Parts: sequence; structure tokens; C-alpha cells
Amino acid sequence: MHWVYYLSNRFRLFLLGLLSITIISSCSEEHQSENEGTSKPNVIPEDVHSQQVLLGRYLFYDKALSIDSTVSCASCHQQQFGFADNVAMSLGHHRKKGTRNALALSNLKEHPYFLWDGAASGLEKQVLIPLNDSLEMNLDILDVAKRLSGNEFYQDLAERAYQRPLDPFVITRSITAFEHTFLSNQSRYDNYLNGDNNALNEEELLGMDLFFSDRLKCAECHSGSSFTDYSFQNNGAVTNYERDSGRIRLTFKESDRNLYKVPSLRNCEVSAPYMHDGSIATLEAVVEHYASGGQLIPQKSNKISGFELSLKEKSALISFLRTLTDDEFLTKEELSDPFEE
Ligand code: HEC
Ligand code: HEC
Repeated sequence: MHWVYYLSNRFRLFLLGLLSITIISSCSEEHQSENEGTSKPNVIPEDVHSQQVLLGRYLFYDKALSIDSTVSCASCHQQQFGFADNVAMSLGHHRKKGTRNALALSNLKEHPYFLWDGAASGLEKQVLIPLNDSLEMNLDILDVAKRLSGNEFYQDLAERAYQRPLDPFVITRSITAFEHTFLSNQSRYDNYLNGDNNALNEEELLGMDLFFSDRLKCAECHSGSSFTDYSFQNNGAVTNYERDSGRIRLTFKESDRNLYKVPSLRNCEVSAPYMHDGSIATLEAVVEHYASGGQLIPQKSNKISGFELSLKEKSALISFLRTLTDDEFLTKEELSDPFEE
């Protein structure tokens, strides 16, 4: 016997009304919680690779990846600063201060290893380092997956992009896919290399000659398309290596003491302050450091021995470094914060 049978029509209507209110409100609740974590993009792209990149873009900008939900990858890697930060040491969760200067990110496919001391051999592995770092995000990747497990937007995108739920595999792969789209190759220097003879003015051309000269030797370490040969060197820039002894922390080899990855110089105009500890504030001061020959420490490369530079040459060298700024890269919509769209 159906209990509804005994109910007056009015009451049935009332029940139906209640039911639909619950359905509607639970829908809107779902909608709400989805919007809290993620705002849906207007269009989800069709092809799988674009879906992987889009998922990585959301995760890169999502503060839910840190223990107290205050810090995302993008907090320390900001597009406007060449995906570096504008402070010597970035703040992690609960405003904890880190111990190294955030590296600028671009053309990462070319890099054979990552971090100032080369501690990460691949980008996928690198993702785990800031997540686990007690001063940065301090959230285990399994906890990230758990935290986002109820987020329909992420789960849907993970299924589309990788045919599996949002697990550590998907998180590391998609963030890496997004990072691989950080291509900086439209600076004025690139235009010059691509045959536009008017891309650089006379002063910048003088600066370029100086950069590649035997006298200054910059290109003996900062060579190739990202202006690094990826070697580990000491350039004598820092007065105190005691707090951070560089690559020896990884290899325990005395010959690696106080050595750091030669950093890329792409977009260095906007990625100040400089060096692994952020101790040099401006490009002017960087050039003065190299001209002076730097600190007298045993590990310093013999390529750093100082040089004379006229005021005109100094400003030309700095002007050349500024031609490595890629405005398109620094403002490109596809690399920007998707939560603000
Ligand atoms: C609290 C600030 C902070 C956060 C958050 C952060 N990073 Fe970093 N990142 C840094 C610092 C500092 C370094 C250099 C650290 C070192 O060398 O030991 C770095 C280095 C890197 C590098 C190496 C670049 C190179 O040229 O070797 C990559 C790639 C990177 N971060 C990606 C990420 C990703 C992806 C996330 C999010 C999962 C993230 N970072 C979160 C500060 C941060
Ligand atoms: C012996 C190799 C070597 C030579 C030669 C060299 N550099 Fe460097 N450069 C480095 C290393 C290593 C660092 C990072 C040092 C650190 O973090 O302690 C660096 C850092 C820099 C930075 C800061 C980048 C950043 O993101 O923090 C700039 C700018 C720079 N060099 C420009 C130059 C210029 C200009 C010259 C020529 C006058 C030059 N370098 C010559 C190895 C070298």
C-alpha cells in the first residue's frame, strides 16, 4: 500500500514542493562549493593536451595547495616578475620566510635539472618540493588530492585530461604541462636574432658586444638561448655562504661547496632582487659586482676577476640585459590567474 495514497492532494503538492526545494538548494550548494575553489572557465577546450594545461594552470594558481590556503605556486612565481618574486625571500604558509630567492621560470624544457643546487632532476619531481617544504606550502601531495577530491570541477577536468581522478600523478603531470607553456621567446633580443635589424638600438648593440666579449666573459657562463650553460659556479657575489653552502648540500663533495646553478637571464629586468639569496637589489649593482671582481673566496670561478667599465659601457650593458624582457610573456592571458578571469 502506498502511503502517498492517503495524503490529500494539497499535502502531496506541499511534499513535492519541499522535495524540489531540497533538490534545487542542494544543486546551488554544490555550485557554490565549486565556485569557492574554482571558477569554471567559459570554455573547456576539446583536445586533451589543452585540458592538461588548463588543469595545471588552475592548480598552479590555487591557494588550496598550501596548508593554510594562503599560498599558491603563483604567490612566489608571479607572471609580472617573470614568474619570480620581487622580494629576496618569499613568504610561505603562515607568512613563514623561505631561505632562497625564488627562481624565475621560463623555457623549462631546456633545463636539465632544477633549483639553485640542482636538487630536482625533473619538473614533475620538483612539484613535490615546495608542497612538502615546511616553510613553503607544507601540504603533502596526498593531502592535496584528498582536499580537492570533492571538487567536481577538478575531478571532471582530471577525468577528461588523464582518464583518472585527481591523484598525485595528475597533479604533478598537469602542473608540469602548464609550466612547459612558459615559453619566453619574443623579447626584443629574440626579434633581433630572428632578423629584425632594427630591434636593438645602438646602445643595446654596444651592450650586447660587451656581454659576449672576452673582457667581460658574461657569456662564458650565461650562454645559449636561456643565457645559462646550466653549470654550477660561484660568482663571488655573496658575502656570507655560511647559511647556505650550495650544491655540497646535495652531493657532499667539497668541490661543490658554495656552487649554484647559473641562472637564466631571460626577463631579469623584472625578476629582481638577484642571486640565490636575493642579496643584490638592482641590475646596476649586479654589474658593479662583476666589475669589482666580487668576494675573495676559494670557490670563486676564475672567470670572475673584475674589469674596467666606462659609465657609457655600464649603462649599455644594462640596456642589453633589458632587451631580454618579453612583454608578451609577462602579460599573456593564457599564463595568467584563471581565478581572476
Ligand atoms: C614560498 C615560495 C614558493 C612557492 C609557494 C613555490 N615556489 Fe617554486 N621556488 C621558490 C624558491 C625559493 C625556489 C628556489 C629554491 C631552491 O633553489 O632551493 C623555487 C624554485 C622553483 C623551480 C626551479 C626553477 C629552476 O630554474 O630551477 C620551479 C620549477 C618551481 N619553483 C616551481 C614551483 C611550483 C610548481 C610550485 C607550486 C607547486 C612552487 N614552485 C611553489 C619559491 C616558491
Ligand atoms: C663564472 C660564471 C659566471 C660569469 C662569468 C657570469 N655569471 Fe652571472 N651568475 C653566475 C651565477 C653562478 C649566478 C648566481 C650566483 C648566486 O646565486 O650566488 C649568476 C647570477 C647573475 C645574475 C642574477 C640572476 C638572477 O636571477 O638572480 C645576473 C643578472 C648576472 N649573473 C649577469 C651576469 C653578467 C652581466 C655577467 C658578465 C659581466 C655575468 N653574469 C658573468 C655565473 C656567472
